[in-house]
Amino acid sequence: MIFIVAGVSGSGKSTIGIKLAEKLKIPFYDGDDFHPEANKAKMKSGTPLNDEDRKPWLENLNKNMREWEQKKGAVLACSALKEDYREILANGIRGPLVWVFLKGTKELLQERMEARKGHFFSPALLDSQLQTIVYPTYSLTVDIALSPDQIVNKIMENSSSEIGLIGLGVMGRSLALNMADKGFVVSVYNRVAPGEETIVKDFIDALEPNQQVRGYTSLPDFVKSLKKPANIIIMVSAGKAVDQVIESLKPYLASGDLIIDCGNSHFEDTGLRTKTLAEAGIEFMGTGVSGGEKGARFGPSIMPGGNPTIYKRVQPVFEQISAKDEDKNPCCTYIGPEGSGHFVKMIHNGIEYAEMQILAEAYFVMKNGLAMNNEQIADEFETWIESGQGSYLLEITVSILRKKEKGTYLLDAILDKAGQKGTGSWSSEFAFRSGIPLNTISEAVQARQVSALKNYRTKMGSLYSLSGESNFSATAKELQQAVYLATMVNHHIGFSAIKEASKERDWNVDLSETARIWTNGCIIRSELMKKLALELQNSEGVLESAWIKERVEDSFESLKKVLSNSILSNIPTPVMNTSLQYLLSITNERLPANLIQAQRDYFGAHTYQRLDGGDEFFHSNWE
Ligand code: 6PG
Repeated sequence: MIFIVAGVSGSGKSTIGIKLAEKLKIPFYDGDDFHPEANKAKMKSGTPLNDEDRKPWLENLNKNMREWEQKKGAVLACSALKEDYREILANGIRGPLVWVFLKGTKELLQERMEARKGHFFSPALLDSQLQTIVYPTYSLTVDIALSPDQIVNKIMENSSSEIGLIGLGVMGRSLALNMADKGFVVSVYNRVAPGEETIVKDFIDALEPNQQVRGYTSLPDFVKSLKKPANIIIMVSAGKAVDQVIESLKPYLASGDLIIDCGNSHFEDTGLRTKTLAEAGIEFMGTGVSGGEKGARFGPSIMPGGNPTIYKRVQPVFEQISAKDEDKNPCCTYIGPEGSGHFVKMIHNGIEYAEMQILAEAYFVMKNGLAMNNEQIADEFETWIESGQGSYLLEITVSILRKKEKGTYLLDAILDKAGQKGTGSWSSEFAFRSGIPLNTISEAVQARQVSALKNYRTKMGSLYSLSGESNFSATAKELQQAVYLATMVNHHIGFSAIKEASKERDWNVDLSETARIWTNGCIIRSELMKKLALELQNSEGVLESAWIKERVEDSFESLKKVLSNSILSNIPTPVMNTSLQYLLSITNERLPANLIQAQRDYFGAHTYQRLDGGDEFFHSNWE
């Protein structure tokens, strides 16, 4: 390992370099001793060196560094003020090469230089060095106000980064800062692409002094900066970008290194990547992270999936950066093998889609059925929160309803066309393929799709005049109960999907733990979720819980009343309606599927089973 202790004059490069070398038991070299005679003479006469003078000196240092790294390694004290100089020094060094910059205020540097015995202090020299120095993004930066021992200890502790992160988008940036706040030394990498040229530098420049983050635009240097075996988080858009990052990383990874995909990847892609990378000796984990930008920055809910032994390597990081539940336990738990972490995150998002749609429907019913304005709706939602039906989504809805821009409500100016990035429809696709009912979630996806047909809706709206009643007789209190019931059914559907997938794939996902890590940090955190974390410890599913059953039965009449009134008043409420239909069907021993079976057998000889026939299949001649 080669350490370069750098900084302007007076920052203590030699003092620290010597101490560090003693501790590491490797040789120390002072860069100044390597100047050619001509440079030494020039400096003696008080003439500053120019870039041309420095070039042979830096090349000579680099030549020596290449030799040192073949032996025991070394500590080199060298000002290395500019990137051009550092490039010459680093050229061909196989690494690890640790850059340490000693940084201090001008006053402190001046004070130290003035105190040097036998040295003439030139304020102009310090000024010119401070103007010239460009701190690199990738160095460890240590405050010279600390004692020499503290500085050396800091360098020793932080010489390699605990964890790496690729992708400085909104979520990546926030996660990196969250890890740095918790005291982890982080290396970050972002590609240099059009529009992203300064992303690493801007990120590093904005760090607080206590945040140890090293920024790279070179993948090999980024990997070299990490403790071995390396643990690397990737936070890029799901799909091709993930594979591109993996492919570009692979040449620099060694057996046992770990890539953790914290984006919203499809769980099947994660399963495949885990297998393919294992063949190359690389570990891979798919990890769901929920909570948006703020969550990632200050405490998300984390859903890691993959090899449980490998997970232990990053468990302390994930547990520290995650949100905490009511008992101060981390909202992070090992979910299961393969793509289970991303699967659970996908269903989280499915539940999220339906919860959002249910609240949107409630808003629409209050607006169009109960003729309430935005403030009244916000007031009403607030009473729901106060009565114990609170959730993060409900809280943000209250704020959204009250938000004004230039005196008018912002919500009223937003185009009623919902976007989506995929996780909701992936949940539905999975459910269709696996024969798992996902009614509320699929309906929520469809509701977004219908909303997206804005022009067509406008056209059809003027084509049709459908008769409706203006008298809406359900109350806001009944609406609250209706929403609660729809929400309970939606959670039942989501958790059932996890249970089924887990059973089928032997994932052994713990439903109660899943609910617990969703009680904070994530988008669907709520009072109900806290209750489900407890109920699911003993109950097979959400609707099987006695506590839930009591509330479902209590709210049943209200849901029917709200829905029938909505239908009579032509207010679309697709997900609330679907929740009722699901509840009616799932609690009904007899459904008309006997007729479906008879029809199938009639036209296609598809056969049917009989109520009194056991497992046997029958075919009849229906004509
Ligand atoms: C979260 C969110 C997050 C993201 C969704 C939005 O848990 O933090 O779910 O993952 O906001 O992917 O998805 P849509 O753009 O599809 O609504």
